[in-house]
Amino acid sequence: MSNSYRFHCPVKIVSGENALDKLAGEFKQLGGKRIVIVTDQGVAKAGLLDLIQDAVAESDLAIGAVYDRVPPDSPVSAVLEIVELYKQHDCDAILAVGGGSAIDTAKGVKIKLADDDIDLMNFKAVLRMVKPTRPLVVIPTTAGTGSEVTSAAVISDPGKGIKLSLISPSMPPNTAVIDPRMTATLPPRLTASTGMDALTHAVEACLGIQKNPISDAVAAAAIRLIFNNLVEAVRNGKNLQARLGMANAATLAGIAFSNSMVTMVHAIGHSLGAVCHLPHGDAMAICLPDVLEFNLDAIGQELGELLLPMADATEYVQTPESQRGMRVVEKIRELRKTLHDLSGLPITLKEAGVSEDKMSAVAEISPKDGAAFYNRKKFTAVDALAVLKKM
Ligand SMILES: NC(=O)c1ccc[n+]([C@@H]2O[C@H](COP(=O)([O-])OP(=O)(O)OC[C@H]3O[C@@H](n4cnc5c(N)ncnc54)[C@H](O)[C@@H]3O)[C@@H](O)[C@H]2O)c1
Ligand SMILES: [Fe+2]
Repeated sequence: MSNSYRFHCPVKIVSGENALDKLAGEFKQLGGKRIVIVTDQGVAKAGLLDLIQDAVAESDLAIGAVYDRVPPDSPVSAVLEIVELYKQHDCDAILAVGGGSAIDTAKGVKIKLADDDIDLMNFKAVLRMVKPTRPLVVIPTTAGTGSEVTSAAVISDPGKGIKLSLISPSMPPNTAVIDPRMTATLPPRLTASTGMDALTHAVEACLGIQKNPISDAVAAAAIRLIFNNLVEAVRNGKNLQARLGMANAATLAGIAFSNSMVTMVHAIGHSLGAVCHLPHGDAMAICLPDVLEFNLDAIGQELGELLLPMADATEYVQTPESQRGMRVVEKIRELRKTLHDLSGLPITLKEAGVSEDKMSAVAEISPKDGAAFYNRKKFTAVDALAVLKKM
């Protein structure tokens, strides 16, 4: 592991109860007067666009067009349709309202508007810095992916069966507006699943070869917020304090992992998504404890330090140092069981409906996933298969 590092978060964060009131002012500062809203059907049906309309009603900001049918996994066809809509309605800025799917689609729109020659499904072309981009403000409505602060967009081409993680310094939004009213409508099952994604980002950010003191601090703050708020957000979705805690946690976890990257849990989780189409958060919930246990000999000390943000100081002090790593694994299993009982979150591959005959294919591609590179302990397809069987 190197002791030199870079840490970067170019996104302005506006967070808190009624943060939406600042939306029009943020666009004004960025020079945006007429926005296209990028969202999906679930968000629209939850009535969240009414809150946006109310928030900008008394301002100079105009809503030029609304695209409210982003499908899951941000297909490139949706990106191209929104680019056309933006041009037809003379928009000059973009607002994404949604989870990772809507936010990543809007990031794709921003890149295409800056440079129409870019082929989004050509990863290398997107890696370079593109021409100046139009203002992009995002309002996350799930507390999970952290996409509101990352340089990545996961864009798919369902026709060709491809899902790519595009990374570019031009990708991050200008501003993320985090208002707990926007996640209050997320059903318990999705709250649990996306919350486990955020927890996995924070935990893995502290364990990989690119970990660093700043991402450690940011990730520890995220873990504390998740252990203090996730169960309550699942149990009582209208509790805005718990929702705000989770929304801040997901953003902190996003900042941490976009700097120090994720590791083997995501490598296997991405592979489960690719082969078995398992929702990402469910895959994280199923994989996290068993994969950490497999890595315990290489990461035990760092993992043990995470007991402090997960527990109270007394439990941390009373747990012998050599047992803290395993205690963290147990804490995650306990949290997961509570979420399972409250919301039906699957915690085994069987519960998630994944058949055993797919396991070899998942194991085969796991060590080749980009996240595997950052794992401290090198692992093979045979190792991945053994862990998958435990799940
Ligand atoms: N860019 C990144 O850094 C990054 C990181 C991780 C994952 N991702 C990508 O993000 C996507 C997943 O995003 P996600 O987990 O946020 O889910 P999502 O955006 O796909 O949304 C899941 C479902 O929840 C509904 N929903 C969202 N917010 C709601 C609300 N407040 N009330 C009611 N319903 C609501 C949506 O309509 C949708 O049906 C995947 O494509 C994944 O690959 C991106
Ligand atoms: Fe994730």
